[in-house]
Amino acid sequence: MDTGLTDRVVSSFDGAASPRYAEIMRSLVRHLHAFLADVRLTEQEWATAVDFLTRTGQKCDAKRQEFILLSDVLGASMAVIGLNHPTGGTATESTVLGPFFVEGAPEFRNGDDISGGAPGEPCYLHGTIRGPAGEPVGGALIDVWQSDETGNYDVQYPDLDRPRGRGRLRADENGRYRFWSVHPEAYPIPHDGPVGELLTAAGRGPMRPAHVHFKVAAPGYRTLITHIFAAGDKYLDSDAVFGVRESLIVDFEHHEPGPAPDGSHRDTPFSTATFDIALSTVDVE
Ligand code: BEZ
Ligand code: FE
Repeated sequence: MDTGLTDRVVSSFDGAASPRYAEIMRSLVRHLHAFLADVRLTEQEWATAVDFLTRTGQKCDAKRQEFILLSDVLGASMAVIGLNHPTGGTATESTVLGPFFVEGAPEFRNGDDISGGAPGEPCYLHGTIRGPAGEPVGGALIDVWQSDETGNYDVQYPDLDRPRGRGRLRADENGRYRFWSVHPEAYPIPHDGPVGELLTAAGRGPMRPAHVHFKVAAPGYRTLITHIFAAGDKYLDSDAVFGVRESLIVDFEHHEPGPAPDGSHRDTPFSTATFDIALSTVDVE
């Protein structure tokens, strides 16, 4: 490799107005050139890569973000989360947001059923939200969203014009939240585009283990984006987007018809899971 070329491109960013921009671009160029040299990339392979990235962009629209999906399957999304939300503290660990979050989900009260008729076995989820000193975070705003028993999110049904299996609720004054929904199922990430080709070429599958998404926000605390994963799921070790963290795996307990933890009586089998959430404060990780 012509190191003179690399040096000239690196220094071409010296006049950048933003020092951070210059730092990022210089490092990107150094790593890109080193990568090209490392694998001795052919012109044909470079053309294939450009075509892949072109088609990745062409697959994006208001509902589909193929570049984020690419970042997810390359582990880049989780790497950025790891850098910005280090583990080892007291806070609940973060994981990927995914493409199925929708702003402005319908609001519910604690104890409501957010399933909206989504198919699946009823599931009761509850827990307490606390801050770093163990203080309850009353009023925390909780967004939840999940797939149904077919492995689909509401937004994936072309003819469904209302939210299902998603909602917003607020923790009570003791930081507690509770809601009914349906038991989540494992599902494939969208794989009918270039990212699906990448997975196939790698001999990898598109599946994610069953999970429920949470986004928790409260004034003075860092917003947490995470999931709970169902213990025992067969895809926990092969999540297509590398989003599983051991601390986020939760037992979903199965129950026959009978009394439920909220005092109601269920006529059909159901499951329950507890997920206590710890937030960090804005300036302390
Ligand atoms: C999800 O969990 O919703 C998801 C995350 C990353 C890529 C695709 C789906
Ligand atoms: Fe998901």
